Amino acid sequence: MPGIRKQKLTTVSVKDKLDRNKIPNHIAIIMDGNGRWAAKHGNARIFGHEKGVESVRAVVEASGEIGVKFLTLYAFSTENWGRPPEEVNALMGLLIQAIENETEKLNKNNVRLGVIGNIEQLPIDVKNKLFKCINNLKSNSGLTLILALSYSSKWEIINAVKKLAVNVQEGKILAEEINDEMFEDYLTTKGIPNPELLIRTSGEYRISNFLLWQIAYTEFYFTEKLWPDFKKEDFFEAVYNYQNRERRFGKTSEQIVS
Ligand code: FPP
Repeated sequence: MPGIRKQKLTTVSVKDKLDRNKIPNHIAIIMDGNGRWAAKHGNARIFGHEKGVESVRAVVEASGEIGVKFLTLYAFSTENWGRPPEEVNALMGLLIQAIENETEKLNKNNVRLGVIGNIEQLPIDVKNKLFKCINNLKSNSGLTLILALSYSSKWEIINAVKKLAVNVQEGKILAEEINDEMFEDYLTTKGIPNPELLIRTSGEYRISNFLLWQIAYTEFYFTEKLWPDFKKEDFFEAVYNYQNRERRFGKTSEQIVS
């Protein structure tokens, strides 16, 4: 139309909208929906797990791009040992494969690797690969990628209580001295800050025994997307959503604003 200047349309990605001063330090993810994704595509469950590795790669890269310091992925729960043996074996094989294929790239991207959970229960070859990879990446200083393997929060808490009880029994600490801070030192997440944001995919609204202690004040983000469909843009969308919340920690809105 005459007189009206044509405006150039540029698409702004969610990543560009993020406030770089409000990036969560620690994001935890319950990667759910691999089985349903596979069924939807007429394939066996393991196909969904294989495809899920691509989403793992995407969120690790995305975390590095925006400066997230810790990323914890719920890769295998204590309860997952109860799945059919073929699926458990396939998942263990996939883990070994992923560690072998990704170590070099993780190293290039300055990523450190950590693990939480009852590692003793893992097959020896998985343990060996894991520890080798952790060792190879230990001097990196960018993102710390933490895999929750054979992990359950109740196991972790009971484990902590047992160790505390022994120390009280042996007179090393007094029962009255036990507080939040001390308790956190007995968890497998010792030294890792609590997550500010927890993402769960696949439209399920539950926590499934994940980081129960650590998520006391975490913001939750649930999405209908199945894990293999969860891409970088979805991850940035979750962070953007988090950035637009008011975190009150039990205080009033007025107190937070002032
Ligand atoms: C949950 O989906 C997913 C898992 C139990 C395993 C997650 C594993 C991966 C993404 C691959 C390997 C991971 C790494 C870190 C290399 P589900 O099987 O419960 O799906 P469903 O609810 O649709 O059945």
